[in-house]
Amino acid sequence: MELTVDRIAVGGKAIGLDDSGRVTFVSGAVPTERVRVAVTKQSKRFAEAVVIEVLDPSPDRAIPPCPYVTGEPRCGGCDWQHITPDAQRRLRVAIVEDALRRIGKLDTTTIAITSGTPLPTQGYRTTVRMLVDNDGRLAYRQPQSHAPFRPDTCLVAHPAVNDLIQNARFHGAREVTVRVGAVTGDRMVEVSGRAADVPADVRVAKSVVKTGSRSADPPAAITERVGAVDLRVSAGAFFQSSHVGAEALVDAVRSALNDIEPDGILVDAYAGGGLFAATLGADWLAGGGSQVIAIESNPRAVADLRLNVPATAVQKVEADVEQWKPIPAKVIIADPARTGLEAGGVARLVSTGADRIVLISCDAGALGRDALLLTAAGYSLTECTVLDLFNHTSHVEVVSRFTKVSVPEQ
Ligand SMILES: C[S@@+](CC[C@H](N)C(=O)[O-])C[C@H]1O[C@@H](n2cnc3c(N)ncnc32)[C@H](O)[C@@H]1O
Repeated sequence: MELTVDRIAVGGKAIGLDDSGRVTFVSGAVPTERVRVAVTKQSKRFAEAVVIEVLDPSPDRAIPPCPYVTGEPRCGGCDWQHITPDAQRRLRVAIVEDALRRIGKLDTTTIAITSGTPLPTQGYRTTVRMLVDNDGRLAYRQPQSHAPFRPDTCLVAHPAVNDLIQNARFHGAREVTVRVGAVTGDRMVEVSGRAADVPADVRVAKSVVKTGSRSADPPAAITERVGAVDLRVSAGAFFQSSHVGAEALVDAVRSALNDIEPDGILVDAYAGGGLFAATLGADWLAGGGSQVIAIESNPRAVADLRLNVPATAVQKVEADVEQWKPIPAKVIIADPARTGLEAGGVARLVSTGADRIVLISCDAGALGRDALLLTAAGYSLTECTVLDLFNHTSHVEVVSRFTKVSVPEQ
């Protein structure tokens, strides 16, 4: 069938109405386009479809720079290769605005929702999780499938990752996480299944099914440098998927604190290996702040934290945020997993009475839900910076500035 799509949905598909008025989510389309589509899924209330032909293209349409977006088999990796990078930035802002308005129930005309500094569209990913194909080579998934697709080279992967995509073999393994240090050149693979057959410089770690598992041996690790700070990142611990992204996040969080005098306590919740505690936390202490508290639940990340952040004045708490006993704090930086803070996290963080909560969200829906909870708890959302951490995809990364305006209702 033919239809016109007019806006973008959380999840990156374009939305149009079919002849019966049913909402249809179309992948491969750009808002304002008239397209011919094949329906792939349908129910009474909505349908999903893929573009077969673009009848009236948008000026925002681009020829995909990656050769693996079209043809068969195809790569299922990046969903926005057909959109210009400038338009991708506008559409990510639209996704965030939509989530804050519909899920967060906020008047978004009062919130400054803007894109951050443009980030590279190629060669940026320093962490990738990939399948292993029957030849032992690294592969992505095909669209809507578990079948492997093996690229010769990946446009968005860092050159040190591409070297492994081209040359490494992981016979007998099922999945591999590749992590490289863009500044240090360190390389590490976390392998499930049998050991890897890889270049000599690459550190090999057995991937842990449960990231919280403890072992007597220290896990393999790489070092990455963010700003002037060296950070150890152990196998099984979280680190941002790109070095440029980590730097951009630190800058955006710093801006979200630019009107706050450092005094009292700064809390880095969901701290990982200390990306924010080691950079902004050190600035906080140098500027006169009394203490930094880093809260993280994964023991491997906590071990990295102990190494990465200054020994004095930074308290490292190995706990779930939901179990942490709140103390009065001035500022909170909170960077939760994809599900967001949820009610348990919000309750703990707001009971610190912090003047400012800087929330980092990697999912627009979770941002909408957390914004609803935080505003109900007496915080006002004034600014969101949408970062292009995942260029050529619809994934968003958002740094939001929440300021305390009232005492929460009992
Ligand atoms: C998105 S990562 C952010 C890490 C760090 N801020 C960074 O940028 O590298 C979220 C972190 O929260 C941790 N985490 C997940 N659930 C948690 C919880 N309930 N309490 C404390 N930490 C948690 C994860 O282990 C992970 O390190």
